[in-house]
Amino acid sequence: MNVQSAIHMLPTEEAAKLRGRGPLSSKPYYDPEWYELERKAIFMRSWLHIGHVCEIPEPGSFILREVEFAKASLLIVRGKDGEVRAFHNVCTHRGTRLVEDAEGKRNQFSCPYHMWTYGTDGKLLSAPDFERFYVKKEDCSLKTVHCEVLGGFIFINFERHPRQTLRDFFGPIAEELEALPSARATHFTECRYEIAANWKTNFDNFQENYHLRFIHPRTSAAACWEENPFGYPVAYGFAGPHRSQTLPTNPNPPMPSAVMLDGYRRIGAIAVREGLVFDKADFKLFPAFHVVGLAPNQFTHTMWPLGPDRTRGQVRFYFTSDNDSASKLFAREMTTMTILDVLCEDRDAIISAQKGLASGAVSHVHFQDHEMLPRHLYETVQALVAEYQAEQEA
Ligand code: FES
Ligand SMILES: [Fe+2]
Repeated sequence: MNVQSAIHMLPTEEAAKLRGRGPLSSKPYYDPEWYELERKAIFMRSWLHIGHVCEIPEPGSFILREVEFAKASLLIVRGKDGEVRAFHNVCTHRGTRLVEDAEGKRNQFSCPYHMWTYGTDGKLLSAPDFERFYVKKEDCSLKTVHCEVLGGFIFINFERHPRQTLRDFFGPIAEELEALPSARATHFTECRYEIAANWKTNFDNFQENYHLRFIHPRTSAAACWEENPFGYPVAYGFAGPHRSQTLPTNPNPPMPSAVMLDGYRRIGAIAVREGLVFDKADFKLFPAFHVVGLAPNQFTHTMWPLGPDRTRGQVRFYFTSDNDSASKLFAREMTTMTILDVLCEDRDAIISAQKGLASGAVSHVHFQDHEMLPRHLYETVQALVAEYQAEQEA
């Protein structure tokens, strides 16, 4: 299976010609006014990955998500009818937060203040002494946020009337997401972090291989070799606001250490047993959702802006079966920690870049051809902000 088949992949030269090549203003990486425009033009009206269906497996299962840029607390619930819905975690009586638990399972949600009680579908079921109110129960349901599921991933959209369905938003990538192991995942491990960097400074780091040999000398030998010393991708593709790249394969990778080799062997056996052998996919989805297919650890990385110079990251590794043997647990933990080690190596470089950009010392940044994915994100953001500003003026 070629998981990138639906996106038209192009060799570097051809793909780079689709992008601009000049320097770009550094302001969007730190300017608070620009951040506010991005918040309204992009994050308040895009489909955003917020969770996975395996987190809410049964009727009444729920997760709570704080979305700071929207000042929202969202209750994502699987209803008794099996539907996944997203509600504002706000009582319709006088605004109290209904739930404080990060996750759980309930038949109904009662507000602690005056006990208004809602069903898993958000409808107001009961309210003490309701006869003394001059409003109908059916007008007091929890306020919804648009919520759809694709490939096991739960997405929300704060726009009152989303301009695109989730499937239209992803275009050809929708089917690719459904084909990934995460669509069948039953478990995941997660690492959350906060970083003193703009969401684009952070995401850009994961959209280019130019830095591999400098920031990751310990592990880059696997990706960088004589004919491809920077470990550059071999092809790039664009689908609307989304991007993809084909990662290179070192024909003679260095021999891993004995313990790594042992883990890889176990993973290989597990991957074959679970039917998880598939081509590499490396999707950079708009606005800030990174999906890489790596058997048996399906990797995702979601970034949430907290401010012009602050971002929260959520890294997950999805699995399609239980940790039912010591060797499976070992292999999963080892590959997960190996990848997290690499992400930790990136951290200081990202923070350092943010500090430098925010100083205003460099008016422009530069992207070379093999940094065309960050450039595409930059161009996409510019276009959407311009579209938003035109709408506001009209
Ligand atoms: S604020 Fe929730 S019942 Fe009063
Ligand atoms: Fe890196």
